[in-house]
Amino acid sequence: MKFKKQIYGMKAYQPGKPIEEVQKEFGLKEVVKLASNENPFGCSPKVKEFIQNNGINFAIYPDGYAQELRTAVSNHLGVEETQLLFGNGSDDIIAIISRALLYPGVNTVMADPSFSQYSHNAEIEGAEVRKVPLKDGKHDLEKMLEAIDENTSIVWVCNPNNPTGTIVADEELNAFLKKVPQDVLVVLDEAYFEYITDPSYKDTLHYINEYPNVIIMRTFSKAYGLAAFRVGYAIAQADLIAKLDPVRAPFNNTVLSQKVAIVALQDQQFIKESVEQNENGKQLFVEFCNKHGLKYYPTQTNFILFEVKTDSDVIFQEMMKRGFIVRSGNALGTPGYIRVSFGTEDQNRRFLSTLEEVLKEQGVLA
Ligand SMILES: Cc1ncc(COP(=O)(O)O)c(C=O)c1O
Repeated sequence: MKFKKQIYGMKAYQPGKPIEEVQKEFGLKEVVKLASNENPFGCSPKVKEFIQNNGINFAIYPDGYAQELRTAVSNHLGVEETQLLFGNGSDDIIAIISRALLYPGVNTVMADPSFSQYSHNAEIEGAEVRKVPLKDGKHDLEKMLEAIDENTSIVWVCNPNNPTGTIVADEELNAFLKKVPQDVLVVLDEAYFEYITDPSYKDTLHYINEYPNVIIMRTFSKAYGLAAFRVGYAIAQADLIAKLDPVRAPFNNTVLSQKVAIVALQDQQFIKESVEQNENGKQLFVEFCNKHGLKYYPTQTNFILFEVKTDSDVIFQEMMKRGFIVRSGNALGTPGYIRVSFGTEDQNRRFLSTLEEVLKEQGVLA
């Protein structure tokens, strides 16, 4: 068959190991998944209440334009409804943007390591991928500017960055946007936006008014705790959104996902509490790293990437045997490190004491 030649040899996205699989493999009663940056507190209790009390007609297609959700998000952000594009998770938005702007002969610039789906989609579209190494775990915007040429179509800024959790300070971002040519799309992926507490980060929404080539992506999968429902969205000038919209699959958000996203959006108290608990979790991990002299990146997300001073796959395996799923740095382009999502306080404490044992067993800690 006549597949695109770049498809040969490509692998499907490798998600964090599912809980059930690990339970079965190691005969464990309880397994804690701290590998995919989900919200350990679930989602707003109002979502469950809504699902229990509201019937849905399964035979009817969803609203392809997500009108009600669109109105809710536009009110929440203070942008026009025409400035929004909804996706089946922000993964879908990445695919839509890539499909619309990438093809053989153009290139796309991104940090390395960063979220894998930028390069994955670029490869599918046959575009050249230009990866610019992070500097101290942060985007090297100077070098990213240098990597842009007349064939560059998209620049991805993962802010905060996955897997390092670092942010681009507002001043730096502003200077960068001024210098990027107007015909290059700048994607600001803000999947972890709600978790940011660093004052050097300023809300980026105003940039979409100043720059017709800027698009922001956000998601209901992280702080809102709705990863299973697959709702992400993009915000940009209406002209840009109108260009991307025809690329979107007709009914890319389900009826239920549109409805629960509205309910979740209304419960900002849940987000506030999740962020507070996240900060407590962060504190515990940072203290652990400082106590044991393990390097870590300053995170503005619900996960942390830190050094384990040995093969990260070994720590990944040893922790999995003991009921904790994390991400090995080997799979993320950061060997010698692991990425761990913050859990509940109890999960965090159990995780860290188990890790301490494992690191001692491995001779990393005395
Ligand atoms: C930086 C970043 N962008 C996008 C996504 C995709 O999120 P979703 O498709 O669930 O909205 C993730 C998920 O881990 C992520 O870390």
